[in-house]
This record gives sequence, C-alpha cells and structure tokens, in this order.
Amino acid sequence: MLADSTNTQANGEVLWRFGSFVLWESQRRLERRGQSIRLGSRSFDLLLQLLKRAGEVISNEEFLAAVWSGVVVEEASVRVHMSNLRKALGTPDPIDDCREWIANVPLRGYRFVGRVACEAVQAGVMPATQRTAPQACEFARIPARLSRLIGRNAEVGRVIEALASRRLVTVVGSGGIGKTSVAIDVAMRQQASAPGLVGFVDLAPLHSADPVICAIACALGTAPDAPEPLQAIVQRLAGREVLLLVDSCEHVIEPLSRVLIQLLAALPSLRILATSREALRIEGEHVLRLTPLALPEGEPASLEEAMCSPAVELLVERAWAAGATAFEDCHRAMLARICRRMDGIPLAIELVAARLGAQAIADLVHRMDDPMRLYWTGTRAAIPRHRSLAAALDWSVALLNETELKLFRRLSVYSSRFDVDSALVLTADDMDPERATDALISLATKSLVVFDPEHAGKPYRLLDTTRNYAQLLLAQSKENHAMPSRHPGPPSPSPPLLAARVRLPESASGPKISFWPQWSWMDLSPHSLVLAP
Ligand SMILES: Nc1ncnc2c1ncn2[C@@H]1O[C@H](COP(=O)(O)OP(=O)(O)O)[C@@H](O)[C@H]1O
Ligand SMILES: [Mg+2]
Repeated sequence: MLADSTNTQANGEVLWRFGSFVLWESQRRLERRGQSIRLGSRSFDLLLQLLKRAGEVISNEEFLAAVWSGVVVEEASVRVHMSNLRKALGTPDPIDDCREWIANVPLRGYRFVGRVACEAVQAGVMPATQRTAPQACEFARIPARLSRLIGRNAEVGRVIEALASRRLVTVVGSGGIGKTSVAIDVAMRQQASAPGLVGFVDLAPLHSADPVICAIACALGTAPDAPEPLQAIVQRLAGREVLLLVDSCEHVIEPLSRVLIQLLAALPSLRILATSREALRIEGEHVLRLTPLALPEGEPASLEEAMCSPAVELLVERAWAAGATAFEDCHRAMLARICRRMDGIPLAIELVAARLGAQAIADLVHRMDDPMRLYWTGTRAAIPRHRSLAAALDWSVALLNETELKLFRRLSVYSSRFDVDSALVLTADDMDPERATDALISLATKSLVVFDPEHAGKPYRLLDTTRNYAQLLLAQSKENHAMPSRHPGPPSPSPPLLAARVRLPESASGPKISFWPQWSWMDLSPHSLVLAP
C-alpha cells in the first residue's frame, strides 16, 4: 500500500520515528521530512517489524512468519524486499548516529540499528496536514544495545510486571552486574509494545552536586535553564503516559529522590524505572535486586550443557567476538570454572573473555588459579562478588603496557562518549599520537573501553563501573593534579551534558574520590595492582 498524505485523521494512531522519518502504523504511511516515501506493502511490514524490535536480530524465518504469514515463499523474498527497503530509506544523516539503518547480520538475519521513538497519537488530535513534530522525538533516545541480552528473560519479565502496577521500580545491584542492560531491554520492549513515550536519562556523568533536575529536563526535551525546570517538565508531560528510565542513580540519590518524589506527585501517569547500586528508598518504590548470571550447576556433562548457563553463554559469545577459536566439549569445565571465578558478573566475564582471543583457555585458567599472578585476597571487599569484579579489572589493567595504562587512567575524565581526537588531547603532551591511537584500540579490544560503531561521531566510552575504577587509578597517580589544568576537558560535550554542568574530577591535591562513594567497597591501594609478567 502506498503512502497517503491527505487529510486523514489519525485514529488511535501509533507513530514510529527514526532520523527524519515518521512511520504511521495504522495509516501505513512512511514520510521523510513531510514527504511521502513509496514503499511496497511487504517492505512496509518488514520495516514495521524491524522498528518494533529495534536493536534485535530478526531471522528470515521470523520475517516470513510475520510478513508472509500463511503464504509459502522462498527465503529470498526477504532479501529482495529488504534490499528495496534499504534503498528506499537511503543513508542516514550524520546526526542519526548510525551508518546504515538496517544491518545484515551474517547467518542470523537483520537488525534495525537506528534510534527509534514510538508515540501514540489520540484519535483526531493530529490532522495529517498540520502535524508539528511530536515531542517524543525530543526525548533523549534509549541507547541501543549492540549485542543481545543473554539470559535475563525472567528478570526482564519481572521488571515489566512490576511496572504494570508500580510507578517507581528500581533495579538494584552491584557495578557491572547488568542493571543498565536489563533496564534498556525493558524500555525498548515497552516502547515497542505499549503506546506511550519512553525517555532516558543517564546520570552517570553527573557530579554529585550537579542539579539532577537539569539532566532530567534535558532528557525530556525541556529547557534545563528554565526558571522552574520542574514545572516546565510537569507542564510538558501532563496527561501523557511516560516511562522515564533513570540510569545510574547511586551517586545522586539524595537530590534525585527529592526530584522524583515531586515528579511522581505532579504527574499521575508518569512511571519511573531506575537503576542504582542501592535503593532510592522513596515511598512506593519497588526494588528488584539483580543477581549474577546463572552459573552451571555442578560439572557440566557437555559443552552444550555448559552453554545452558547464561554466564557460560556470555563468556563463549564474547570470546568468539574477541577471535577465540571454537570451544569443544573438553573446554566445558574450564569455561564453567572461569564463570564461577567471575561469580557470574557480566562485566567481569566480558573482561576475561576479551583475553581468550589471544590466550589459550587452559593457560588463562592456570594463571587465574595462580595467587601470585592474580591478586584477589579478601582484604579488598567483604562481598566476594565485588572482589571478583575488582580482581577482573585489576587483572585486565595489570596486563596493560605503560602507554595503555596511562591512557586508560586519563580517559576517566570523559564521562560520556568521545572520539579518537578527544583521546589524543589527553596524551598530546607526552605521547606519540600513533602509539596513543594504538593504545586506544587495544583498550577497546580488552573491553576496558567500549567501541560502539553506531555512534560514528564519538564511538568510544567507558562503562561507568570501569570509569570509576580508572578514576581511582588516576586519583592515585602523580598525574592527578596535572590533568585537568593541562587539558580543559572533553571537547564539545553534548548539550544535555553542558546543561547539566558536568565537571571533570577536581584534583586539588592527592586522591580525591569522595564523589564516588559507591566504590567504598573497592579499596584500591596502589599495591593492589599486580604487574604480571
Ligand atoms: N545479560 C547480559 N547479556 C549480555 N551482556 C550483558 C548482560 N548483562 C550485562 N552485560 C554486559 O556487561 C557489561 C556491564 O553491564 P551493565 O548493564 O553496564 O552493568 P551495570 O549497569 O549493572 O553496571 C556491559 O558491557 C553489558 O553489555
Ligand atoms: Mg549501569
């Protein structure tokens, strides 16, 4: 069916927005900057499936079932229509943060890689010819996951269920355990299945004294410098069904709680999904504690059985991605052992998996068991889970060369995404740019820096847990007080960050880490790093 841009009234319509495109679901219309795009019916349906499950890989079988249901066709049909669709969509604009809209994932299917916002429009509210840009597109978009979420179906289900009856749900757990990953998955599903708006605000870049309300205002598309930002938010969201995902709350719990209490009181149709290392302790809050990924029970009898454990599945998937050769049955016990050693913490597993591209698993297990090489005695943290993540970080960092270690420490000044040039700013005084670039790539290979090609402009970032750790290393290093004065800070931070007045760590003298209280469990003394040969 072709697009129709006449005066049709949207009747309980659902809009899907990506880049400069708007797809009107019931009217089966696709527009770019107000211009209709001609799209065949099958291609339209393929696009709708992709948008509804943005970020997920959809197989040919799934497309055939959804788009050609009841009709027997060759798998090639998917390819042909997908090719038409890709042609019709063209290349994303630079601000769209992706190189292509639809990625072909070899042997698995297709994935929509662009950011998608979904919005419900009330019947009769918006005549097609008088549309103004609905406000959903002005919400900060949910960051797309680059890889699939492994083994969290039950947890995701529990969060969704809780959100159906509670207005504030907090996913609580230690750093690196997967809170953000689960919350993003929930938000994406809600966006795809339920009408309403989903906003996202990452509080990780905030200094504890920064006004939380400004960050939330930015994320919701209101002016952060409005005289009464809270009122501006309330006015904008009044009467709208909004789910706000507030990520990384732990270091701003006090001021955040005050703001959330006010927002929840003023906006009866607002729901909040928060992630934090500790509960917000607000009345009505529903806390869901995230436990580590399930480990194999006992000794697995086969590789297949070991892979039934999500922890092993994650280890194997990340190891393959790092270039490890295929695992066989004989590796099952070692894989299970690594995951147990990492206590099923996804971030710790990812860090170790990154090494399997260049190290034999037997050697890795052997080194992991050698207390002389791996420093994980009980003095570091009372909770074993924390100890194993600290150990995984120590271990990864202990194997960095001097250039990589220096760069890693310094990169902690960037609390949001950055590009190669921004990284080189930090090393301009004392490092050859080629070596610094190699070091950056090496850090990404070791999973200490996340490389996210969908953000072509600024593809690098540190996970907040990793950044906290690098910050501590920086605080302990002699460079601590030299850094910010030599380097004015991240070049051109994004507007929301500017508005939230993100600061670099201050560094008057000596270690100054009090603004990351959540790291009190990780007592990093300089000798806690063991430099393995
Ligand atoms: N269930 C999962 N499947 C795949 N990767 C995961 C899973 N949980 C966490 N990760 C990965 O582990 C790392 C840490 O997860 P994250 O969600 O940032 O943890 P947290 O928010 O608790 O600090 C990220 O790189 C994330 O992609
Ligand atoms: Mg997180």
